[in-house]
Amino acid sequence: MTTRILTGITTTGTPHLGNYAGAIRPAIVASRTPAADSFYFLADYHSLIKCEDPLRIQRSRLEIAATWLACGLDADRATFYRQSDIPEIPELCWLLTCVTAKGLLNRAHAYKASVDRNVEAGEDADAGVTMGLYSYPVLMAADILMFNAHKVPVGRDQIQHVEMARDIAQRFNHLFGQGREFFTLPEAVVEDDVATLPGLDGRKMSKSYDNTIPLFGSAKELKAAIARIVTDSKIPGEPKDPDSSHLFTLYQAFSTPEQLAAFRADLLAGLAWGEAKERLFLLLDAELGEARDRYHALIARPADLEDILQAGAAKARRIATPFLGELREAVGLRNFGAQASVAAPTKKKGARSARFVSFREADGTFRFRFLAADGEELLLSRPLADPKAVGMLTQRVTAAGVDALDLREDEGDRFSLWLDGACVADSPSFADAQALDAAMIRLRNAVASLATD
Ligand code: TRP
Repeated sequence: MTTRILTGITTTGTPHLGNYAGAIRPAIVASRTPAADSFYFLADYHSLIKCEDPLRIQRSRLEIAATWLACGLDADRATFYRQSDIPEIPELCWLLTCVTAKGLLNRAHAYKASVDRNVEAGEDADAGVTMGLYSYPVLMAADILMFNAHKVPVGRDQIQHVEMARDIAQRFNHLFGQGREFFTLPEAVVEDDVATLPGLDGRKMSKSYDNTIPLFGSAKELKAAIARIVTDSKIPGEPKDPDSSHLFTLYQAFSTPEQLAAFRADLLAGLAWGEAKERLFLLLDAELGEARDRYHALIARPADLEDILQAGAAKARRIATPFLGELREAVGLRNFGAQASVAAPTKKKGARSARFVSFREADGTFRFRFLAADGEELLLSRPLADPKAVGMLTQRVTAAGVDALDLREDEGDRFSLWLDGACVADSPSFADAQALDAAMIRLRNAVASLATD
């Protein structure tokens, strides 16, 4: 089983060294493990909540996309996309909004913090609070649930949001699932062993403290930033205490154990701070130099970046589009023309259900057709030796249920059903990909209805 890992990066600002060590580097490492199916995206709809400057939004999206690719994210392996290229996400956000209790959102930390600040300042409690800020957790739930992520790597401040996504998923499953778990319940993962870097002044490196080291500035800018790192005033030759020096902590985040041991010994032996800064510069330059070149090459060709992200969006939508189709069906937003194929809420006497029909071929083999309630043929099985084999197979499909259905697309115009690594039945051919997706949804609904009928 692969684990689906999903995380979003809000596109405000330019990534700095702290983002790199704390989020980008570990995420890229994780995306390379064979069992991981990674979804990384630019949360650009979320960025609109905090920023009303179009140029900054655009610039930040570009810089963040280039940063992740330059740092080694493999966009063929991982699914890398912009949230705003997936129209299914805001649509799902609305479906979720309609089942989310207002009281749940009243408890969100980010919203509560704004209210507290207002109250303290003697303002109206909701002054400056937009619906975007208020509904932020629902949009985030849509990001996560759209792709049924198992694990969501986030910072501590985001754990509550992932828990809200779980709540909302459970509520939706309960209301509309009819025994089917539409949404996987996601889990927040907080990496405890990733480096939280100190900034130039020793406080946590953060844009809001203006103490950051730029990730892809020129070598000269990197040097200048390092020169601003605050140290104590011990003179060259005087022993320095590595453990109380954040310059040492920064070094530690990028060095091998051997390099670190040597650095520690030299500081204790009185290495001058100027020298120590030069060593940190060389270390960072070696770690980031190549990625920096790749970054500037990418930024210089925004049209290529656009192509990469469009390909990522297409990949993501191959999952999102049919899944949203199922969710629309589930809540009752159904095609009038296909009405009969949708299980009626109260079944009339004599109404037919989805069913298996077995028959004998002229050559003596046996097969079944799987028909929707309206009689549409959804699947035709491969030939089987005898009626007993047919019965066993149809029973297994029924028992396994819709969540275990292994459907695969064949040559673009049909799909097939697989069981234990073997193809057992095929769909008819369809005119185009949309008709194919729609038929897969009808099949899923029909299989789901077997469990309830
Ligand atoms: N809110 C997250 C942050 O500020 C970004 C984000 C948006 C996100 N959607 C997400 C993270 C979905 C994980 C999953 O860091």
